[in-house]
Amino acid sequence: MKRLLPLAFACLALVAAIAVPTAGAKPSKSYSAADEQYLKTSIQGDLFEITGGKWAQKHTKNAAVLRMANRIVSDHTKSVKDAASLARSLGIDVPSTPTPSEVWELKVVTGLRGRAYNHWYASLEVYDHVQDIQETTDEINDGTNPKIRDNARTDLPVLQLHLRLARAALAENP
Ligand SMILES: [Fe+2]
Ligand SMILES: [Fe+2]
Repeated sequence: MKRLLPLAFACLALVAAIAVPTAGAKPSKSYSAADEQYLKTSIQGDLFEITGGKWAQKHTKNAAVLRMANRIVSDHTKSVKDAASLARSLGIDVPSTPTPSEVWELKVVTGLRGRAYNHWYASLEVYDHVQDIQETTDEINDGTNPKIRDNARTDLPVLQLHLRLARAALAENP
């Protein structure tokens, strides 16, 4: 009996080791790391656009910059809701702030006034939307989760419109 006890414990430990991970295992993820990164970056981008656009609505008197800002605020307010509910349905954490570099960009541009502000805000939005369009196109081409790819497909024409408005705003504020 004394000799059998350690063996019995060893068997119990083995059963526990096998049983615990099986009981706690989650179904495999339906999205890739790149899908998750795309969705999170897109939500952070929406928060960046909304904050920057609302600031512009209060501070600019330039018609082209205001036209861009109005469209940016209304479209990104809608896309952040859609992207956040998609993230929640997939179990992906919803970011609550823009990226550190976006926060820095907003800080720099909102420190400017008048012509300098109009020029650099429009310029930032051109550069930002070129990058957003690239990331969105990459997700459409290479994404693995159908719902996240659909989200990217819906966003693309909106981002392209924002790029045209940003280029128009920059052309009026050279
Ligand atoms: Fe953006
Ligand atoms: Fe945008």
